[in-house]
Amino acid sequence: MTIDEKVRKTLAELGATDAAGVEALFGEVRAAMEQERSSLVARGASSEAERDKLCKDLRDRWLARKNGLLTQIDEHWLKLGAKELKPIVGRQFNELRKASAGMETNELAQVVPLRKETSASMAQLSAQLESDVIRAERGDVSDLTLPGYRRPLGSLHPVTQMQREIEEIFLNLGFWIESGPEIESVYYNFDALNIPESHPSRDDWDTLYINSQTVLRTHTSPVQIRAMEKYGAPLYIIIPGKCYRHDNPDASHSPMFHQVEGLAIASDITFADLKGTLDFFAKKLFGEKVQTRFQPSFFPFTEPSGEVAISCIFCGGEGCRVCKESGWIEVMGCGMVHPQVLRNGGIDPEKFSGWAFGLGVDRFAMLKYDINDIQLFFQSDVRFLEQF
Ligand code: DAH
Repeated sequence: MTIDEKVRKTLAELGATDAAGVEALFGEVRAAMEQERSSLVARGASSEAERDKLCKDLRDRWLARKNGLLTQIDEHWLKLGAKELKPIVGRQFNELRKASAGMETNELAQVVPLRKETSASMAQLSAQLESDVIRAERGDVSDLTLPGYRRPLGSLHPVTQMQREIEEIFLNLGFWIESGPEIESVYYNFDALNIPESHPSRDDWDTLYINSQTVLRTHTSPVQIRAMEKYGAPLYIIIPGKCYRHDNPDASHSPMFHQVEGLAIASDITFADLKGTLDFFAKKLFGEKVQTRFQPSFFPFTEPSGEVAISCIFCGGEGCRVCKESGWIEVMGCGMVHPQVLRNGGIDPEKFSGWAFGLGVDRFAMLKYDINDIQLFFQSDVRFLEQF
């Protein structure tokens, strides 16, 4: 029901039978009045004559002695109202009257602005627009005057960009991309990789268990076994993907992160192939000047195992805050695939040998783009992401 209809009914007909109902109704009236006033102010007028007419019309609608909305309220709500509601209706009506002072013609005229355009040119323009739109709708012409849609173009996430760059280097070396499940069995995640139940690394990695036999994979290495089973040897693959660990988020840890695993198996693979390939890879990614350093390490699924460091890309090896004055930044683990792991994948270690590596993509992206907090990657803040 519109305000105009409401003011012609009695309070009883409107169901306002108590103080709260009456106050709500008057609230509605005041809001309608204010809304009509402010839309006239927003609309403005194209000439003084038009302004005066618009203001007078609005004033009369509300305040005309005969038939104005306030008069109607007086007639229907106050005079015909139930006796016990009279005090509250009277008070509300007085408030409304006070609030309506701004609806007098000269009060309105002071706040309704004059628009610069002449009414003639505005009318012409809107008539022209209307006909263009109507013709365009009929299909006669397309309306070339309408502005086009500008769609904001996104870009690839920095971690995805880093992953693609790594993939590209290995694809060019003849590797192909393999993937495996993020929900993984304990067998593939640990047992098949020669990590026995008692081994401390199962605790170290703080695994997210789904049940006693199923985990969120803690690394991409289980796909080594899956790929060996599926394809046999020779095998040259990289395995990008998400991994999960029970880590608290901080500047360098995230419970979800990304790795790229590499695996090369053939009849004559040696540690020299591993060193050569990873040195080539580091130079492609970080520049020809970068040097690599291999240090002995331990992983249950490789023997011997190594830790690869690159010469610091920030200070060139001089020593700085990022490399903790050492000149070197550790970037991945690697090694010669353990004979038992080959066997677990169904490959005969007497006939074949292989190397493997695993690296953190997020960490590589942090190095490459000089970002000091891994959390930034996963907060979806456009101000951060649109820089890439
Ligand atoms: N899976 C190891 C980790 O998540 C990384 C790794 C080390 C992978 C050595 C390998 C490797 O393939 O040979 O810490």
